[in-house]
Amino acid sequence: MANTLNADDRPVILILNGPNLNMLGMREPSVYGSDTLGDIEAACAERAEAIGLAIDFRQSNYEGELIDWVHETAAQHDGIIINAGGLSHTSIALMDALRTCSLPIVEVHLSNVFGREAYRHHSYISLVASGVICGFGGHGYLLALEAMAKLINT
Ligand code: DQA
Repeated sequence: MANTLNADDRPVILILNGPNLNMLGMREPSVYGSDTLGDIEAACAERAEAIGLAIDFRQSNYEGELIDWVHETAAQHDGIIINAGGLSHTSIALMDALRTCSLPIVEVHLSNVFGREAYRHHSYISLVASGVICGFGGHGYLLALEAMAKLINT
């Protein structure tokens, strides 16, 4: 495994969160639930440890910062879980960065984007992800970790 961030040799998964996800808990709770991003990070850290992974959990409202993090990731991480928020539906640049990083990618959305507005039905991230999990709220991140564990062990 390529990871360098943890001392105990667990694979490190970069969990990237895009614009507006810092507002979870306050943002449209009927759509996104009442968990904050901090709650989701804590749940991810716990599940990751239970299944032998470590996490590096980040959020940015800036497309360029997310792209910079993807560029830096190959040497530091073993996989990427990404909820790119609204950038999922618009960002060819973020897709291009992910395409070149050669790590397994799992896409997550809290909401079921396919049951929502038509402009949320297409995701550029899906074109480079191994799989997509959506509609299960914060629990989707835990499902993504399970999927990632399988991907990096096969
Ligand atoms: C989201 C779905 C996107 O369409 C939206 O722009 C978000 C959140 C989700 O997690 O359900 O910001 O990615």
